[in-house]
Amino acid sequence: MSKYILAIETSCDETAASIIKDGTEIVSNIVSSQIESHKRFGGVVPEIASRHHVEQMTLVIEECLKQANLTPAELTAVAVTEGPGLVGALLIGINAAKAFAFAHGLPIVPVHHIAGHIYANNLVQPMEFPLLALVVSGGHTELVYMKEHGHFELIGETRDDAAGEAYDKVARVLNLPYPGGPHIDRLAHEAEEAVPFPRVWLEADSYDFSFSGLKSAVINYKHNMDQRGEEIVPAAVAKGFQDSVVEVLTAKTLRAAEEYKVKQVIAAGGVAANKGLRTSLEATFKERNIPFYVPPLKLCTDNAAMIGAAGHYVYEAGIRGDMKMNGKPGLELDSWK
Ligand code: KG4
Ligand code: ZN
Repeated sequence: MSKYILAIETSCDETAASIIKDGTEIVSNIVSSQIESHKRFGGVVPEIASRHHVEQMTLVIEECLKQANLTPAELTAVAVTEGPGLVGALLIGINAAKAFAFAHGLPIVPVHHIAGHIYANNLVQPMEFPLLALVVSGGHTELVYMKEHGHFELIGETRDDAAGEAYDKVARVLNLPYPGGPHIDRLAHEAEEAVPFPRVWLEADSYDFSFSGLKSAVINYKHNMDQRGEEIVPAAVAKGFQDSVVEVLTAKTLRAAEEYKVKQVIAAGGVAANKGLRTSLEATFKERNIPFYVPPLKLCTDNAAMIGAAGHYVYEAGIRGDMKMNGKPGLELDSWK
């Protein structure tokens, strides 16, 4: 019999619910974005995020069931993001999951947000192991090695800013709206030239990343130009910045894929929506004959389908949450196998 998981995601600024069949098929997928409300503050305001989640959560779950044409009695479990994320935002989703599970006698399944981003790929292309995932989002930049479902080995991570965070901060310097990633991506593609910025490689054998130096280089460049009374060319700055990020992410992912001899490389997280990064990774892995996949844009940024995709395997592993579940803002990505 098929298994239907209702998944809930509220870790940041999207209120989302989805129903996933057997871990791989999207039956319905609803995302209510709050981006418009946070734009004028230039970033996510936690209190506003929580308030929006409270207002939207029930409606989003109802719409999700309606579009799936399923009743709660036909569901197998409720999966919910346990962390990491904003604690107040996480709690709204967790409490909704608890209430729904209690009312309908369903088990709760706790899901790690980053496991979700990685499993978004399984909705498009079956994951094959061993696998390497490049996770690039607003809060994370990580290289994760997986031997099998539920096994996660962190082989590299950012030592300071996440890639998405650097994108958003550089976008502010260029007076672009929040979230800045897509705007920088667009400008970079319109650019005729690139301002040269450094590449930060760290130690030769390290799979770690660092983006704060690059961010400072962009800020300093803008300051110097301002002081000289010269206008910057935003597209050239965007391209210079993006070229640096993409080159480092691509090179380190390739080196790790070859060292770990993986069967598949995947990209995940909001920054995996970046056209420059997608093109660079696709070309690089095609040349090396290593299968590379990245989910469609709407499954790269935050959504609940990915939580349902991972939640299916967490459920199969027998892991359950309970009525004492809490939001865990700094939750580590531990293996469940
Ligand atoms: O995964 P996500 O939706 O939320 C987190 O879990 O953080 O990622 C959001 C991040 C933001 O920093 C946003 O600027 C970035 O993803 N982003 C992009 C693009 N689309 C979204 N960054 C670069 N290029 C894009 N096209
Ligand atoms: Zn995310």
